[in-house]
Amino acid sequence: MKILITGITGFVGSHLARALVAHGHAVRGLVRKSNARGHLAADVPVEFVMGDVTRPETLPAAMQGMDAVVHLVAIAYETRGATYQAINAQGTRNVAQAAQAAGVKRFIQQSALAADSKSPYAYLKSKGAGEDAVRASNLDWTIVRPSVLVGPEDEFANALARWLVITPLAFPLVGDGQARFQPLWIEDMARIVSQILNEPRTIQQTYKVGGPEHLTYEVMVKQILFALRRKRVLLKVPVPLMTPVIKGMEMVLPKPPATTSLLELLNVDNTTELDAVEKHFGFAPRRFAEVISYMNRYPFSKALREAFSRE
Ligand SMILES: NC(=O)c1ccc[n+]([C@@H]2O[C@H](COP(=O)([O-])OP(=O)(O)OC[C@H]3O[C@@H](n4cnc5c(N)ncnc54)[C@H](OP(=O)(O)O)[C@@H]3O)[C@@H](O)[C@H]2O)c1
Repeated sequence: MKILITGITGFVGSHLARALVAHGHAVRGLVRKSNARGHLAADVPVEFVMGDVTRPETLPAAMQGMDAVVHLVAIAYETRGATYQAINAQGTRNVAQAAQAAGVKRFIQQSALAADSKSPYAYLKSKGAGEDAVRASNLDWTIVRPSVLVGPEDEFANALARWLVITPLAFPLVGDGQARFQPLWIEDMARIVSQILNEPRTIQQTYKVGGPEHLTYEVMVKQILFALRRKRVLLKVPVPLMTPVIKGMEMVLPKPPATTSLLELLNVDNTTELDAVEKHFGFAPRRFAEVISYMNRYPFSKALREAFSRE
């Protein structure tokens, strides 16, 4: 199959591209800069086409000759010039319309648990608006809504790990720590999308997916500390107190320790059925503690470098 991946340079896109190429698909990536591979390793053979989801006129060329589109582009926090509305909502509408106009029927939309166009939370609202645009199309769509995704390049567990290493003695835990997540390993996510592309039964279906455990935010932080072989006192700080701090960090740091979308996720349930992946896709996903075991070597110098690097 010839597959266009939007967001191929990102965390999910880079893993998905490798998985799809390994399954014999021809992969094309929509990219904003001709020379930037981002997280995508040099040994993954893909074709690049320039385009920006906020500029519909750049999208038809990317669609030419494709059998399917996997739309991954989204932002987890807003910056000047890049809004949830422009990228997560209207950007998705633009990509779905371009696919439809080009006759590319098969469309996989990567959404998120709790996405809802009526959500009071801006990130989740924009992801829900993106879903609505895809459902309103004439495409053979499938929407997949994962809980938080983890892997060597994620900006959730790794951001926490980085700042746990850098911060001496005590670490601020945003909120009461009781928000529940169901972390899913990135390779399991890629496997799910590969299967969706191959299975017509998934057309016009929305799948909520997560790993094999419901874990509170506090338990995840503790499991990361265990993997890091470090001890920190966790200080619970109410979300309203942390919100301005995190918004400020988003403005100045290339990789903030937490994002406004994470603050939103702390207010909603980020879980689904424990056997969701097994039930819909027939395999058992891996556990959080197992997939973060690579964190056992995380020197202070590396954490510091990564926290302030724009790479
Ligand atoms: N990561 C998670 O835990 C998680 C959980 C649930 C759902 N999701 C969903 O999974 C999808 C992928 O997430 P991710 O973690 O891989 O994100 P990511 O690492 O931040 O990657 C985002 C990608 O979007 C591209 N992009 C941003 N703005 C663009 C624009 N205007 N035009 C074209 N490309 C643009 C980026 O390209 P550049 O290289 O040019 O910046 C990058 O390739 C998103 O839809 C997200 O909502 C992620």
